[in-house]
Amino acid sequence: MKNILESKFIQEFSNVIDRMYLNGWDERNAGNVSYLLLEEELSPYLDLSKKGRVHQLQIDAHKLAGKYVLVTGSGKYFRNVKGNPEANSCIIRISQCGTHAEILWGLKEGEVPTSELSTHLSSHIARLEVDDTHRVIIHTHATYLNIMSAVVDLDEKNFTKALWGLNTENIIIFPEGIGIIPWEIPGNGLIGKNTANKIKTYKIVLWPLHGVVASGETVDSAFGLIETVEKAAMMYMVINNYSNYKTINDEELIKLASAFKVTPNKEFIK
Ligand code: 13P
Ligand code: ZN
Repeated sequence: MKNILESKFIQEFSNVIDRMYLNGWDERNAGNVSYLLLEEELSPYLDLSKKGRVHQLQIDAHKLAGKYVLVTGSGKYFRNVKGNPEANSCIIRISQCGTHAEILWGLKEGEVPTSELSTHLSSHIARLEVDDTHRVIIHTHATYLNIMSAVVDLDEKNFTKALWGLNTENIIIFPEGIGIIPWEIPGNGLIGKNTANKIKTYKIVLWPLHGVVASGETVDSAFGLIETVEKAAMMYMVINNYSNYKTINDEELIKLASAFKVTPNKEFIK
């Protein structure tokens, strides 16, 4: 077997987690990441005929039956993942009936995957229904988005247009806008269901006063989306210290969308 620590997927996963930690978004164990792995990319590194430790799931995940997921461990510090991915994350295989998963690699001391596993699995299911190339879910406590969620009306149209209006590239990168769910208790309750419902339409969903959940076909695309939205939130919070500032108007947003052949959310702009 090849050394899994040298695999492209572990490198991408650890590097993005480290980047998010360095961005100041993921203090302590804040945030969690999951990455759907293909059997053919995993099999050179792991003996997949072996059974793993059973972990009970809190949702019905039969739509992901047989799928492999690289995911951070609950309570594990982002700061430590890159130095020791095996102690801070794991690879799970979802059972055929979808009631449990097997932990095939990592978290050897009996620890468990993230407490947001229900959100991750439900969001993977939801995104795969609309995009069969989907693979990554990132939850992070992005700083300026959290600040903005404390001061701006939590209306999706309002919030999205505030972000689109501040950087020319934004409507091209997230033409569907940003979804928002009500404030919720983290973990296995409603938060996962609400996020999954939103993430079908919006590739990024705001958890007010908590963080965001973003999806992507690759680690880069999920992270790049968060970076873009987070920077716009930072601009919004800085610019609001000034009494008079310009934003990109609706007519210009429509021209941008048309020039870059993206379809902006029709609820937000006509
Ligand atoms: P975990 O440590 O269980 O992943 O929880 C962190 C978090 O961000 C909860 O929302
Ligand atoms: Zn969180």
